[in-house]
Amino acid sequence: KRIAAILPAAGRGQRFGRAENKLFAMLCEEPLWFHTARVLASRPEIGRILMAISDQDRPVFEGPYAKLVNILRIELVRGGSERTDSVRAGLDALDGDNSIAMVAIHDAARPLVSDADLTAVFSRASKTGAAILATPVPGTIKRKINSDDHSITIDRRELWVAQTPQVFHVDLLRQAYDRYRGRPATDDAELVERIGHPVALVRGRADNIKITYPEDLWVAEAILNRESK
Ligand code: CTP
Ligand code: MG
Repeated sequence: KRIAAILPAAGRGQRFGRAENKLFAMLCEEPLWFHTARVLASRPEIGRILMAISDQDRPVFEGPYAKLVNILRIELVRGGSERTDSVRAGLDALDGDNSIAMVAIHDAARPLVSDADLTAVFSRASKTGAAILATPVPGTIKRKINSDDHSITIDRRELWVAQTPQVFHVDLLRQAYDRYRGRPATDDAELVERIGHPVALVRGRADNIKITYPEDLWVAEAILNRESK
């Protein structure tokens, strides 16, 4: 059985600060979304790629980028106003496809995920039902006590930063989404945690960054240029 990839791409990229979606920003001469989709499309175990896009961006994906969408055999689905709604749209599009065993949800804004990390998280999820890439928190973490503007230090030893892909057996993810329809979560793993199923943390590379601010694009460009040398 195969894996389906869902790429949430229906955000606005507000923190990136441009008029158009940050996913259309160019990274090493190609649009950011295409880098991400190509990494997943190159994996033999991924049988379908569903990308959730906004109504506003649809003319761009179906116009100037239609050829790139076709080359990677991407299925476009209609995203929603919360990321959770966008993932749900991808999941709904998989209804009735019995060839899919697992779903890998991966931010379209995370173009640098490595093959080794993909292999590791797929393998762990196939054993446990649910696994995500994550990295240990690298720095000292403070909690700001607002009432008196003091800080207290949080023990970081058990703190991890969640990344994507987040990979689940399809039935488990459906159950999590059914149970919590309409109530957004910060990531998909949180929905699965809420129904009481453990989510395994697979230690990934710290350079699997999400493009959030303009400077993240410069970092990504540097990482890609390093790799091609
Ligand atoms: N996303 C989505 N649907 C939404 C919101 C976000 O599919 N309603 C996608 C984004 O397109 C992105 C991924 O989820 O690929 C991670 O979200 P984030 O980095 O926050 O992107 P944006 O929401 O676009 O950015 P911002 O929060 O700065 O507006
Ligand atoms: Mg967002």
